[in-house]
Amino acid sequence: MLITFEGIEGSGKSTQAKLLMEWLQTKNISCLLTREPGGTSIGQQIRRILLDPNHTNICPLTELLLYMADRAQHLSERILPELSSGKTILCDRFYDATTVYQGIARQVDMAVIKKLHTIVLSGLKPDITLLFDLPVEEGLKRAWKRITANHNEQQENRFEKESIAFHERVREGYLTLAQNDPNRFFVINANQSEENVFEDMVKILSRIVL
Ligand code: TMP
Repeated sequence: MLITFEGIEGSGKSTQAKLLMEWLQTKNISCLLTREPGGTSIGQQIRRILLDPNHTNICPLTELLLYMADRAQHLSERILPELSSGKTILCDRFYDATTVYQGIARQVDMAVIKKLHTIVLSGLKPDITLLFDLPVEEGLKRAWKRITANHNEQQENRFEKESIAFHERVREGYLTLAQNDPNRFFVINANQSEENVFEDMVKILSRIVL
């Protein structure tokens, strides 16, 4: 089973993915927590290029192709082998992020994205996608707090530096995807305490995974 975690910056999805892995392990469900970009060692190098705030001149097509390259490597090296060995995979962002960030927010031709995904994914689709939703201002406030606390202002914040309008397009884009695919998407209110978000997530997953 493939479960993906999506949301705007500062939505808390990575924290919830970790908590879910620990919870699944207590139920003796064998799982793997991974992420995009950066789920492989080649992917980590791609991630560095993609998120470097100095790369303000990266063109939208280069950006798209780098996310696709990261995904192709991730699928071949980790996701497909682990899925076929029966593991539950928790993936912190997957292809919906490309549809929303590059397609909707960056306005790269959606037909190009679809064509590349046909090649890269070979039909693979997440079984469940958890969308952690909260207002953009709140998400960005949390994201910058974390970036400053980790002293990585110079390292991985190219997207956090995008305009509020960009992030609003991302949020709306995700909500539209969720509306159009209600069997796969579960929208969780992320504008509440970590504990309450976790409780909501577990309520949803206990019905499906256990
Ligand atoms: P993260 O901070 O959740 O690890 O994600 C890194 C950034 O990459 C985040 O700002 C969203 C962006 N992103 C895309 O633009 N397209 C994609 O396909 C993926 C996976 C992430």
